Amino acid sequence: MTKKIEAIIREERLDAVKAALTEIGIIGLNIVPVRGRGRDGGIKVQTRQGSYVVDLIPKVQLNIVLSDDNVEATIEAIRAAAATGASGDGVIFVLPVDEVIRISTGERERAAITYQGDIDTRRVKA
Ligand SMILES: Nc1ncnc2c1ncn2[C@@H]1O[C@H](COP(=O)(O)OP(=O)(O)OP(=O)(O)O)[C@@H](O)[C@H]1O
Ligand SMILES: [Mg+2]
Repeated sequence: MTKKIEAIIREERLDAVKAALTEIGIIGLNIVPVRGRGRDGGIKVQTRQGSYVVDLIPKVQLNIVLSDDNVEATIEAIRAAAATGASGDGVIFVLPVDEVIRISTGERERAAITYQGDIDTRRVKA
């Protein structure tokens, strides 16, 4: 089955996360800048004049559509590279994907067939 990982991470961890994914052969991905809040509702900023809350913090959303077999290794690679141990490290969502259509060829990859677009095919074929 084909899945989609939506990982919301710290902007400053993006390079490390991309490198960790390349390391395990996960190549296809896209990123979107997002602003959001977690269950703690943002961060409290203290100034001499008092304190206020910034509730929408800039983060990066990493989107990866991949075959089921690669989900656990990908989650682990993202976690290991994105974690600082502090709150605000982010979250990883895993969603089902129905179908993938490659625009150049019109080729369809149904959910029943594993999607290999995430993988470095040069390595797999070697
Ligand atoms: N339930 C959610 N739905 C969609 N996006 C979310 C959700 N929770 C968090 N996010 C996104 O993830 C970012 C980071 O969340 P954060 O790491 O603070 O999650 P948390 O659940 O509060 O965990 P922690 O205790 O580690 O802070 C948020 O800024 C937001 O963009
Ligand atoms: Mg939080």
